Amino acid sequence: MPLSFARRLDVVQPSVTLAMNARAAELRGKGVDVFAFGVGEPDFEPPAFVLDAARKALDTSVSKYTAVTGIPALKQAICARTAIVRGWTPKPSQVTVAIGAKHALFNLALALYEKGDEVIIPAPYWVSYPEQVKICGAEPVIVQTDEASGFKMSPEAFAKALTPRTKAVILCTPSNPTGSAYSESELRALVEVWKKSDAWLIVDEIYADLVYDGFKHVSAATMVQGFEDRVVIVDGVSKTYAMTGWRIGWSIAPERLAKALDMVQGQSTTNATAIAQHAAVAALSGPQEEVERMRSAFEKRRGVMVEGLRSLPGVKCRMPEGAFYAFADCSSLYTATSGLTYKGKPIANDEDVAFFLLDEAHVAAVPGGAFGAPGYVRFSYATSEERIKNGIASIKRAIEAARK
Ligand SMILES: Cc1ncc(COP(=O)(O)O)c(C=O)c1O
Repeated sequence: MPLSFARRLDVVQPSVTLAMNARAAELRGKGVDVFAFGVGEPDFEPPAFVLDAARKALDTSVSKYTAVTGIPALKQAICARTAIVRGWTPKPSQVTVAIGAKHALFNLALALYEKGDEVIIPAPYWVSYPEQVKICGAEPVIVQTDEASGFKMSPEAFAKALTPRTKAVILCTPSNPTGSAYSESELRALVEVWKKSDAWLIVDEIYADLVYDGFKHVSAATMVQGFEDRVVIVDGVSKTYAMTGWRIGWSIAPERLAKALDMVQGQSTTNATAIAQHAAVAALSGPQEEVERMRSAFEKRRGVMVEGLRSLPGVKCRMPEGAFYAFADCSSLYTATSGLTYKGKPIANDEDVAFFLLDEAHVAAVPGGAFGAPGYVRFSYATSEERIKNGIASIKRAIEAARK
């Protein structure tokens, strides 16, 4: 018998995307041009001045440990930008710079959740939320939403899910995977329900700068006067500045929680990479024109992707308010409705659809089951308009060919 692993891993779901990525890599290895609609990162480069700042930092003493929770300049820059774009002004002592927003969320999970706790997560959800809760021995309480309600949790559904064991609720707006974003009044209604509870409110705002058609993101932190001592905002540079690989994200928490996060991070990773912190200072403090250029490119691509998906037989796709994902109901492609088969077998679920798209259309996308939304497929439009058009055309050809 091989030595065993910790039992906490027994409850963690292996990522479906890993199997998809492996198949996509196999196809690419054979020289196939795969349309990368599965990825969760901008295809742009960070602004040039960000890279220049990193180069410049190399000439200074950037090779040493920094304070666990980040260099003062970055904390200042985070507070200043939060004031400008999110409309509230945190103190540097509330900020914990982590190795990406994912790590910030994991720090929070370690600091807050334990056996017996429930954490409310609306579905469709970003894959890591429930898994991080489970790793910590707590229980994710999934609140299903549907397309008719814009994939948004209603105050009634939220109130129903709250129990004396609720430790936290995690909201993501705009959302990965749906791109849905709560309007100010929708968010306010949820905040009012939350105020009556004893739970933490954690809001992931990592896509908040990527909103379209004049949608206005309103930070939940502007609505919690008198309740600030149990609110956490998570954010980062990955999506806004196309800096996924630099691994800089952060939480903004009440000071007593920030101290706990300092301890958690101090016993695990210590600081985020110093040079990346300097690059993030430049991103947050420098000119923001590039952010608008990328946002408006995403807006155009969104139209092309959603229109393209809607042109597929029976496929329904809501126009998302933000992020860079289109979340399409692809159940019309199941054999029962479409009559299509794949490799001589029926297409029976969203995973089959995703593998059909990958193998037959060379389009990589993520099945909705991974996000708690079977029947759907997530298509990222973080790629050029031409690639989006060609990918959709390739899906059309694959469907035609499968009909014959
Ligand atoms: C909703 C959401 N939160 C957090 C993250 C993590 O971002 P980071 O690159 O900062 O770890 C992602 C990345 O895909 C995301 O989609």
